[in-house]
Formats: sequence, C-alpha cells, structure tokens
Amino acid sequence: MAHPLIAQLTLEEKASLVSGAAFWNTRAVDRLGIPSIVLTDGPHGVRMQAEGADHLGINNSHPATAFPTAASLGSTWDPELLQQVGQALGVESRNLNVDVLLGPGVNIKRSPLCGRNFEYFSEDPLLAGELGAAWVTGVQSVGVGASLKHYAANNQETDRMRISSEVDERTLREIYFPAFERTVQKSQPATVMCSYNRINGVFASQNRWLLTDVLRGEWGFQGYVVSDWGAVADPVAAVAAGLDLEMPSSGERGPQAIVDAVRNGTLEESLLDVAVSNVLTTHDRLKAAQAATEAVAGDHHALARRAAAAGAVLLTNEDNLLPLDSADGGQILVVGEFARTPRYQGAGSSHINPTQLDDALAAITASTQRAVTFEPGFAFDGSDEENLRSAAVEAARQAEVVVAFLGLPDAEESEGFDRTHIDLPANQLRLLAALRETNAKIVVVLSNGAVVDLGEVTQAASAVLEMWLGGQASGSAAADVLFGTVEPEGRLAETIPLTLSDTPAFVNWPGNQGKVHYGERIYVGYRWYDTTRREVAFPFGHGLGYTTFEYTDATVTVADASVAAAVVEVTVTNQGTRTGTDVVQVYVGDPVAGVDRPQHELRAFAKVRLNPGESQRVRLELGERAFAYWSKAGWLVEPGEYTVEIGASSRDIRATRSITLDVPVSTPDLDKESTFEEWLAHPQGTDVLEKFLTDLGPAGAMFRDPEARKLLGSMPMRSLVSFSGYTDIDGTINGLLTGVNKAN
Ligand code: BGC
Repeated sequence: MAHPLIAQLTLEEKASLVSGAAFWNTRAVDRLGIPSIVLTDGPHGVRMQAEGADHLGINNSHPATAFPTAASLGSTWDPELLQQVGQALGVESRNLNVDVLLGPGVNIKRSPLCGRNFEYFSEDPLLAGELGAAWVTGVQSVGVGASLKHYAANNQETDRMRISSEVDERTLREIYFPAFERTVQKSQPATVMCSYNRINGVFASQNRWLLTDVLRGEWGFQGYVVSDWGAVADPVAAVAAGLDLEMPSSGERGPQAIVDAVRNGTLEESLLDVAVSNVLTTHDRLKAAQAATEAVAGDHHALARRAAAAGAVLLTNEDNLLPLDSADGGQILVVGEFARTPRYQGAGSSHINPTQLDDALAAITASTQRAVTFEPGFAFDGSDEENLRSAAVEAARQAEVVVAFLGLPDAEESEGFDRTHIDLPANQLRLLAALRETNAKIVVVLSNGAVVDLGEVTQAASAVLEMWLGGQASGSAAADVLFGTVEPEGRLAETIPLTLSDTPAFVNWPGNQGKVHYGERIYVGYRWYDTTRREVAFPFGHGLGYTTFEYTDATVTVADASVAAAVVEVTVTNQGTRTGTDVVQVYVGDPVAGVDRPQHELRAFAKVRLNPGESQRVRLELGERAFAYWSKAGWLVEPGEYTVEIGASSRDIRATRSITLDVPVSTPDLDKESTFEEWLAHPQGTDVLEKFLTDLGPAGAMFRDPEARKLLGSMPMRSLVSFSGYTDIDGTINGLLTGVNKAN
C-alpha cells in the first residue's frame, strides 16, 4: 500500500528519499515532517561514529558493549540467548539514537578462508536462520530495526564488490537462501541489506528476481531493501529491481539519475513510489515502536561474559584436565600474548570501541588462590622468538599446569580480504611443541574468528578450548570456563577440517576472471564431509561439557503419513555430578531419492539445561521442509523412507529411526525428451508406453527384454519413436501424451 505522503511528495523529493543523506543517515523532508533516520554497524555492538565516518572500522566510535562475534554466538546454539543479546544491542542503539542496526550476518560459511566468517553464524542454514531470527526479534523488541545481511551468496571477500557468484538455483534455495528466508518469515527485519556481489551475472542490488520476486513475493518481506555501502552500480536499475534505499549518499548523482529516468520514461514512477513507500512505512513503524517501548539498559558486560562462555567450545579434555581446581594445586603458568592483549573482535565494519575489556590473565589471577605466573611466549609480530620461547619453557618447568593462549593475530583475518591458509602462526606452534616437551599438562585456549588447523595443537595439548573472538568479556569468560564457574556450553557451528584441501570449496575458491563457481553445490560443511565420508578434526555440532548426557527412548512419530511432518522425542539425562547443557540435534536423510542428496541435514535442535541426575523428555518437530529438496517445480517431498537421526553432533548419532511418508507422488509432465525409463516410472506413462510397444508388434518385442530395457533406459522418446519407423515424430508423441499429462 502506498504511503499516505506519496501524493504530496515531488518527484525530486521522492528520488531523494531513496538515497542516503550522508554516510549513516537518510534524507529528511522537513516540510512534510519526514525525519532523517540513522543506520549504523553492527552486528556485534553499536559502532556509532562521532566524526570521521567510514565503513571499514577505521575511525573511532562511541563506546559500546562489544558482544561476542557471530562465530562465538553461532556456537551457542541458543536462540533465547541471542534474543537477549539482540535486545541489549537494541537498547544501546536507542541510547545512541540509532534507528537501524546493521546486522545480523547470516551468510553461510562456505569456506574457512572467508575473511568475514567471524561475522557469520554457521555453515548450516537452519542454525544460522534460527539464530538470525532470534537476534532480530531481540533488537526490534525495543523499536530498533535490524538489517539482515548480506543478501545473497556473499561468501568471500576476494573481489567482493564485483565477483559473480555462479550458483545454481537448487543450491541457492537449499543452502544460501534459507537463513534469510527463515529470518524474514519469523522476525520481519525492518531492512534487508543486499550484497555487493553479482549472482549469476546480475548485481544483487539490481536483481529483481532476488529483491522482489523471491524476497517479497515468496517470503513476504515487508520492510525495505538497503544497499550494502556502495553496492549500487546503477541507481535506476536498482530501483527497478526493488532496491529501496541506496547507502551511503551518492550525492546528487543517484537522485538526479532517478529523476531523469522517470522524466524520460525509462523508469516507471510507480516503481519509485513503491521504494519510497517501503522506506517511509518502515521508518514510521520504527518510530511508533520507539515511542511505545522503553530502552532500559541492563548489565551488558555481564551478558557479554555469559554469552562468550555459552559460545566457548571445549574440543578435547583428556583425563578431565578441565575444570582446574581454583583452590588447590600447584602453580599455573599462563603463556601467550593473547592472555594479556586479548583478540576479541574482528577488523572491518563491525569493529567496536568497547566499554571495558577483560583480559584472561587478570581474570585467571583473580579467580584462584593458586599461584599464577605469566610469560608472553611470543610476540604478535614474531620478533624475539627464541628468547620469549625459552623464558616460557623455563617457567613451564616450575608449573603444575600450563594454560597457553594461542590464536590468529589481527592481521590474519578481517573484512575486505580472505585468508590463504588455515594455519596458526608457526612461532606459536613451535612454542607449544617446546612447552609440551617440558610439561605434559597443557591447556590451549584459542582466539580466532574462523577455524584453524588443530593437528599440532591437539597433539600437544590435553585440553583445547575454542573461545573464538568472544567480545570484550572473552577473557573473564575464559577464566569462568577454565575453573568451571560456568560450563563451556558451545557446540561447533562449523566443521573443523583436518586440512584445507579437504574443504568443500577448495578447488573452486575464490574464483577468477570475475566469477566464483559454487561447484560443490549443496555439499557445504558437514553435508560434504559426511556424504563423502571424509575424516575431520572435529565434526559439526561437537562440543564437550563438564558432564555427560545419555539419550534414551528415542521415538519418531508420524501422525498422518500422507502429510510430511513428524515429531521426534528423546529423553536426555544428565549422568554427571554437575549441572550442564546439551544440544540435541536431529538430522534427516533420504536414502533413496530422485536427486542426489546429502547424507543427512540438520532439521531441528534444542538446547537443554539439566541438573545432575535430571532427565527431560525433549520434543522436536519436523515440518515439510525437513524432508524437501528444491526441484524444477519448487519444493518437493518424495514419498518413501527417511532416516531420522538424533545425536550430539553430525558424527555422534545416538539413535536412528526410519519413517515412511506416503505423501502424494508428484510426477513431472512427460514430453518428447523424456526417457524410456521416465515413461516407465510415470503412473500413466507406463501403460501408454506398454500399449505403444504392443502395437508395434514384433518390433516392440525387443523392448520387453529386461536387459534391453536397461540398455535403452536413457533413450528419449523422440529417438525411440524414430527407431520404430515413425516419420511424424511430433504427431506420434503428441498422440501418446494426450493419454498421459492430461490424466496427471
Ligand atoms: C559492509 C557491511 C557494513 C557496511 C557499513 C560494508 O562494507 O559489507 O557489512 O554494514 O559496510 O559499514
């Protein structure tokens, strides 16, 4: 519906409203009371710049809570917590007069090399979508709009402003779209940010299919589409495609081009009206929600600390080395520059000026009565390696346990460029090996935004704790987990591969000559590793706690087999002596399908918190999409058998059940290119074909031989009819088809 002010706006005013006023705000029309609206980064904190605007995190911004990055939040598998973080971000936005916060990033981690993986939740679209939706709900609960980004198929930084992601529709629909779709449908973000890249040759900012047909037409998006900063190549084509707001300002260039295009008839004014209406209606809604809600600040640092621990993934813990006893025991040696100079966020547009910063060394010292000593062990720039290492090794001789803080220095991963390898710096690995020769009790705590090769780390360390880039309270959260004040609750939202060459996009990454081919298609993350039976370092969904859980009495119930839906139930029992959390994961597979499908796919999950000895019956629902794949005709569920696996990771399946769905068969129409086999498999085609063969007499007899049928299976009807001596091929086939497609 058109916004009521549309009729009163001049063409020039309308064109001005779809292009920013400056770096972070939209244009006002004072005479009609249309305010300027502030949009700012996001997503891990509010980057409200006082002066010196930029989209690269270079200039300073007002202090704001630096929450854990999406790499860490993704590992929480905890929508409720994400909603709380979102709400806190909304409150801080309100307090800094920000109307739209630019986040969340729900792009899929296609390769561990993407420089921006720390800003994205997962390699799995269901997990990314559930977390994205919760984050948006939280932010918007206080009247601040979210901006779901970067739509779509933006999975690398290399050549990000020009590259064409060459990706087939099934892959888009099953892997790269669902997190956007789910977030739009569950939480209606105020805005969706289109990405820089092209999709199959067309810029996202000018892609009508993407921005209008799919986003609005199919998913029912009601907000406005904003460009990524500088993503608009042609402002007129952008409006025509369904882009509603160009950011940042392009001066008078954008508005003037739009005015000219309307005047000379190359852009319909009604399309501009749609864009203006979308922007104004959304801004009205935000202002009304702001007037109706109060933004009450809580203890956001404490929330950031809780969230960082919830995203911490305990990868190994031999002989229960963790948690450390805080009261008794010998000296604890803390090693690693990261312990006193935390790396807790990534570089680029999400860079926050934190309100405070906890370092792990101080937090550890404050958490224990045991003696704590520190050695930097290495310098970020690699200098003075031998001296730093030998001092640390010397100190390790006196210590009962060594806690080594390792990770990726700032320069190794960032927005704007991709990584070229997944290795930890060699000086850190040499230090670790030397420490191991001196002391057998080593805990490694990691700070990195995307996965790293952990081969040498797991060899040397008895316990490995992945803290990701955990925000401003990451240091104290690490201490909380190390001493067991809280559980490490995280589960991997991305597989940790053994080596880079095992990763699904390896040969296609990062493309060249302007194109990147998504050749691995739907086989992304565990869908690839599990289908191709590759060994991995740590599987998707993996993470240890300080207690263990048992799964019993798993059932999968199908109420009505003619409907694609099932209910999964399982009893989860905390078998240990400590309270803990577990994430129950449900994977669905379709062993016999009309198309290739991954071995299994995450279709539901639930996080449970249980006291020692406590049990809970966990119930998870599977809807139609849990069984569907994208076919030429849209989402399709085939009748037949499905496996439903209930587990604690994609490789730790505790129960497998098989169900049969008796949903209606949807057969594609036959045509002259349909094969002998396809005619036989078609409910009406088979009878028509058999009659045709009978009518052929002896010539048709050979088609009845089972061996011959195998050989002829792939022959199109066109050839079969021609081989049978017919000259009017089209006429003959059309005759056969009247008895087939009509009845279908
Ligand atoms: C990034 C966006 C960000 C925008 C504004 C762009 O370069 O891709 O994620 O929101 O800048 O800073």
